[in-house]
Formats: sequence, structure tokens, C-alpha cells
Amino acid sequence: MRVAGAKNSVLKLLAATVLAEGEYVLHNVPDIADVHCMADLLRAMGMTVTGPVGGTMTVASPADLVPEAPYELVERMRASIVVLGPLLARFGQARVAMPGGDDFGSRPIDMHIKALESLGASFRTEHGYVVGRSDRLLGTRLLLEFPSVGATENALMAAVLAKGTTVIDNAAREPEIADLAAFLNRMGAQVLGAGTSTIEVEGVETLSSVEHTVIPDRIEAATFLAAVGVAGGEITLEGARPDHMDMLIAKLGDMGLRISPTTDGLWASRSRRLRSVDVATLPYPGLATDYKPLLVALLSVADGVGIVTENLFSGRFRYVDELKRMGADIRTEAHHAIVRGRERLSGAPVKAPDIRAGAALVVAALAADGETVVGGAEHIDRGYEDFVPKLAALGADVHRP
Ligand code: UD1
Repeated sequence: MRVAGAKNSVLKLLAATVLAEGEYVLHNVPDIADVHCMADLLRAMGMTVTGPVGGTMTVASPADLVPEAPYELVERMRASIVVLGPLLARFGQARVAMPGGDDFGSRPIDMHIKALESLGASFRTEHGYVVGRSDRLLGTRLLLEFPSVGATENALMAAVLAKGTTVIDNAAREPEIADLAAFLNRMGAQVLGAGTSTIEVEGVETLSSVEHTVIPDRIEAATFLAAVGVAGGEITLEGARPDHMDMLIAKLGDMGLRISPTTDGLWASRSRRLRSVDVATLPYPGLATDYKPLLVALLSVADGVGIVTENLFSGRFRYVDELKRMGADIRTEAHHAIVRGRERLSGAPVKAPDIRAGAALVVAALAADGETVVGGAEHIDRGYEDFVPKLAALGADVHRP
């Protein structure tokens, strides 16, 4: 199985094309709904976007843009908020719809705003929009209250064109941030330390358009590892980056999945039923919250009891009720879930509440007797390219009506 490009990276790289006029070429771009949504947003701002065709996408960023992210698009995809930093940095103005709540509970943008204010922008809200203005941004020291991925990205994309030096302390360390910094540096930015807690940016006057290959999607890779963990068998994930998934690989190893790196990815096999473990989500390099529904699906059929603790998003246990409909023995208490493994689950009609939970329900169905019908599959399309054909190629009896 070849791993697709990382959704959470490519969305930000596309936002970064706001920063400089010119033609961009991105490779290893997954053909997923969220990428099309970001392409629609770029088009709404005045860019010309083609693809992805065969994994390649091109963006033509003109000299002038409409610095606005309309509600219809931000509502479809919350990550649209990452155009705020680049728009302010390049045009000194931005009008971006405020994202509403979603299935993970409240997801505020206060840290994004605070970071951009420290760089010299000012904001007001009107009619559901955040309206930002600035003269040239000024480099400063930013201390993030929490290593927020989105706030780090917005601050980073604003700082690259600011005057002077910006230091982002307590920055998020996700591999997607390092990919964004690599992209920005290729454009001519001077970013040091991305992937660590302290990012230092020396502002430059202008940037230029570039060609770049997106890093592989560690969460898609994790999804197929979970599928093997649930169903048994063996898999080779071409293009996967084990070094981006250290904690997950260790955790799955503790459960009894055999995993080893290959020259171009990783290999995994499961011969016996997995053992339960405890799991707590944390910012990278901790276990990603996006892996959690997959781990809960694995624990549902593992041997023993596992306690799962969610430390990032308050409402991220919605899919548990769906897994229970499939016979899983799970009790939730505030941000904890206690999962007692069962030998088998029982196929049932269920509903996907979001991208990863949707994928986790399909993974759980691999260990369920009879047929499982997963509704809300459009959530899965937001983040997975060819999910059904890929699973079918691995031997799953799965189809899309
Ligand atoms: C990104 C990922 C998402 C992943 C998450 C955490 C994308 C498109 N999405 O989301 O898949 O689950 O990182 O790894 O890349 N917070 C605030 N105020 C803010 C910003 C965040 O309180 O201004 C809180 C959030 O409510 C949450 C925590 O900080 O509790 C982490 O959020 P954050 O890292 O910002 O997640 P996203 O960037 O939205």
C-alpha cells in the first residue's frame, strides 16, 4: 500500500501560496475533499488552481488577491483559518469567517489572534467575521500558551514576512510544521528550529513560488496499521515515515503488533490477538489525538482492559456510542474511556461523526460479524483518498454503494 500525502500538511502549504506571487507545483497531493475545499478557497481569493492530477497540483498566485475567506468555505473546513497569517503578512488585511463549533467540542482561535496581535496586527469582529489589519508586521517573541498546531502555523506564516526576528516558544512540533517550514525556506524564508519547541524566524522582504513534495500522511498510515491490528495479516506501507510515528509504533508494539522499518516505509504483521494498553493523547511527539479513534477500535477487540485519555479536544468521544452499537464494551467518564476488549464485534448500521472516527468505524467493522453500514461516509472522503479500493485491495469485503 502506498501512503498518500499528508492532509494536515498540504492544506497549510496551499495556504502558504498566499505569501508570494507566482506558479507553485505540489507533488504527492492526496485527492481528498479537504484539498478541494482549500482549492475552492484559493480560487475565491483569485488564484488559479488545477489538480490534483496524478498527485500533482498547481497554483497560480496573482499579484493581487481578495483577502477574504467566506463563511461557506470556513464552515466546510475549519483549517481555512490558516490563511489569516499569510494574508496579513502580505496584504496587511484579512477578512476570515469565524469557524463555528464542530464535533470535537469547542475549538477557539484565541491563540491565533493573540500571536498575530503580538506581531502588530489588530482585529475586530463583525457579522461573524474576524477582520484583521496591519502595517508591516514586526518580529517579536511569542510564547504560546499551548503548542497549538494551527496557531503555530499562522504565526509562522505571518513571521516570515515580518520585519526582524520572531521567536515562537512552546511551538507545536508536528512533522507537518517542519514540512511547512521546509516549504517556506524553499520560498526564501529563513526559518530555524521547526519541529522543535522553539522556532526562530528572520523576516525577509519577499518570497517566491516553488515546487515541493508533501510528506506522507502518518494518520493514513496509522489507519492501515490499525486495520491489520484488527483483522490480522501483514502489510507493507510504502513511503511511510516511521520517524514521524515513533510513539504510535511503540504503542502498537506494546500491543503485540510486529512493526519494522523497510528501505522505503514500514512493514507490520499481526499473528495473534493484540493485548490492551493504556493510551493518552498529547501534542507531538506524544500520541496524536487523530490516532485515538483507531486505537479505541483496536482496544475494542484486544485482550484486556485499556484506559484511553483525551488531552486535546473535549468532545472527541462521540464515535464511542457508535462502537457500542457494534457491541464494543466502552465506558466514558469525562475525558477518559475504559475499553474492555471483546473477541468479536457485531456488524450494525453506524454513523461517522468525523474523518478519523469514520475511518475507525470501518476498521472496527473488519472485526465485526456480519455487515456494518457506515453512514456519513462523506466525512471519510475529507481525509482519505480511495479508502474503499485500498481496503478492498488488502482483502477487505467493503464497497461504496
Ligand atoms: C490540528 C489538526 C488536527 C489535530 C490537531 C491536534 C489540521 C488541519 N488539523 O488541528 O487534525 O487533531 O492539530 O494535533 O492540521 N486551542 C485553543 N485556542 C486556539 C487554538 C487551539 O484553545 O487558538 C486548543 C484547541 O481547542 C485544542 C488544542 O488547543 O484543545 C489543540 O488544538 P490545535 O493544535 O490548534 O489543533 P488544530 O490546529 O485545530
